[in-house]
Amino acid sequence: MSNVVFELRDVYFSYLGKFEALCGVDIAIEKGKKVSVIGANGSGKSTLLHLLDGLIFADKGSVKFQGKELSERDFNDEDFSRNFRRSVGLVFQDPDIQLFCPTVKEDIIFGPLQLGIEKEEIKKRLDELVTILNIGDLLNRPPHELSIGEKRKVALASSLIINPDVLLLDEPTAGLDPLTTRHIMDLLISANASGKTIITSTHDLHIVEEISDLVYVFSHEKKIAKFGQVDLILEDIELLEANNLAHIHSHRHKDKIHIHPHVHLGHHPEEENLR
Ligand SMILES: Nc1ncnc2c1ncn2[C@@H]1O[C@H](COP(=O)(O)OP(=O)(O)OP(=O)(O)O)[C@@H](O)[C@H]1O
Ligand SMILES: [Mg+2]
Repeated sequence: MSNVVFELRDVYFSYLGKFEALCGVDIAIEKGKKVSVIGANGSGKSTLLHLLDGLIFADKGSVKFQGKELSERDFNDEDFSRNFRRSVGLVFQDPDIQLFCPTVKEDIIFGPLQLGIEKEEIKKRLDELVTILNIGDLLNRPPHELSIGEKRKVALASSLIINPDVLLLDEPTAGLDPLTTRHIMDLLISANASGKTIITSTHDLHIVEEISDLVYVFSHEKKIAKFGQVDLILEDIELLEANNLAHIHSHRHKDKIHIHPHVHLGHHPEEENLR
């Protein structure tokens, strides 16, 4: 059996038929891999994740999930839809889209209840996630009152509680403090170690190395500029600059102005110094 979870061939998508968002994208994602999608604002990363989550459908080209073409019609079938939602989970870039219940707890358990997961099992998973994400104090609060980082953790919990095989993460660490980012990275890495496929959209080059076997760089033309092993991508400064992922940094040093490419990398200060 093929190991490919998602396979996209020459996929085009535009919003309302006029705002182009994906312009001829080819992607193949194998089971159990960590894949990241990086690129400038508006390059199509969120659109890709929404497409993989079956929220929108290609105008042209083919999108296969586990070897089967995905179409809007499939999602009208309740069994198919439930199985797909159990297998694939998306954490939205904007947590407000995901959180709509009166309390955080209701929001987190909404998905698994809808999918018919046993109440005992839901409770067990909820307790685990509350501990890992340190969100016990938030459970009875209305989601709209939370800070952005708190909302992001709750949105993450509401996807992880379903325990999907494939996790789609749209900028999961944006706006999080360094320690929370670390916890979430550890959570995602351990989910991957237990066999889950992880597909992450991000601008944060700090996390790319850890969460990627393979990186796809989306271009301003809303297609793939380059893909490859993480090292190959991160050392291509020209590519990163051309796609707004590194910027030319100018600063005054004594009487001279220095200009050099500035990449937001480096878990270690000495690594940053080398660039
Ligand atoms: N609901 C929408 N209606 C119309 N156009 C849209 C809509 N959502 C996205 N677009 C357009 O589609 C293109 C791709 O947007 P998308 O949100 O996928 O980019 P992105 O790479 O995720 O950007 P960011 O880094 O800012 O999150 C953009 O040009 C955007 O303006
Ligand atoms: Mg986006």
